[in-house]
Amino acid sequence: MLGRQLALEFAGREFDFFASDLEVDICSRQGLQDFVRGKKIRWMVNCAAYTAVNRAEAEPERALAVNAAGVENLSQLAAELGARLIHFSSDYVFAGDAKEPYRENAQPRPLSRYGWSKWQGEIKMAAALGTFFLFRISWLYGVYGPNFVHTMLKIFREKETARIVNDQFGAPTYAAALAENIAGLIGSDSERFGVYHYCDRGAISWFDFAAATMEMALEFGMIPQKISLQAVPASKFPGAAARPAYSVLDSGKAVRELGFQVHDWQLNLKRFFREKAALEETS
Ligand SMILES: NC(=O)c1ccc[n+]([C@@H]2O[C@H](COP(=O)([O-])OP(=O)(O)OC[C@H]3O[C@@H](n4cnc5c(N)ncnc54)[C@H](OP(=O)(O)O)[C@@H]3O)[C@@H](O)[C@H]2O)c1
Repeated sequence: MLGRQLALEFAGREFDFFASDLEVDICSRQGLQDFVRGKKIRWMVNCAAYTAVNRAEAEPERALAVNAAGVENLSQLAAELGARLIHFSSDYVFAGDAKEPYRENAQPRPLSRYGWSKWQGEIKMAAALGTFFLFRISWLYGVYGPNFVHTMLKIFREKETARIVNDQFGAPTYAAALAENIAGLIGSDSERFGVYHYCDRGAISWFDFAAATMEMALEFGMIPQKISLQAVPASKFPGAAARPAYSVLDSGKAVRELGFQVHDWQLNLKRFFREKAALEETS
């Protein structure tokens, strides 16, 4: 989802870049070496990750192989090349028992194996590289790839009712807005390395997110009618990975230090619908 969005953003800015997908396995040091051979690389942006949060509970070693060992490989490669690495981690590194938005120096305490693997990746990167850009983001969604908003749209089209969690709070991150900020960072050749938090402005529950998605989907003619949404506690969905009850991130440092633009989550959701409608028209 994010990788494709970034590649489009970079292409629009006429950056000289090489994008890759699974043909470059970040778990293979040799594969990475082969990919970079003969290329002059100043920046590396890692969007590869094991992101199946629930599945990671059953196969934590696969999550760790990609999210920790893979990130370590990339970090070592960046060190060898003298390249600047941008990497993404998650609000799921936190336990979710805070009362105010998480700042960068908050202590990670993941509840899930996915969250643990992302945290281990952060640790490996810091050990391998003195300087890097690490962005913790939350509730990522965009016009490409599976995400909460796409899941909701499918449900709204196929079902008459849906149960949505109303006791987990966070903030969405619209991938296109993040991609613009990342491209701006690279364009300015920034050396303001560090750990940063970034998400859209606001603090909402999944239920709020679903309800707003339904309203806008109706407005944009993407669903024929509203369905009935039932607000339920996360405890009604047993068996899945534990998720933080509160994982709002404080984007203040990214705004102050990097000049990142942060928009209200509802504005970005509207933008998502405009961009999705435009994409559907051209495809
Ligand atoms: N989605 C969210 O809500 C969210 C929230 C917070 C943070 N993040 C972080 O944001 C970043 C981008 O997430 P995303 O949602 O864009 O992820 P995504 O859509 O799941 O994309 C990750 C990509 O990495 C690929 N991949 C997996 N293992 C790989 C390997 N060994 N080598 C190379 N590529 C590999 C995946 O391929 P396959 O699909 O074929 O496996 C997939 O194309 C990740 O670091 C993620 O942890 C995401």
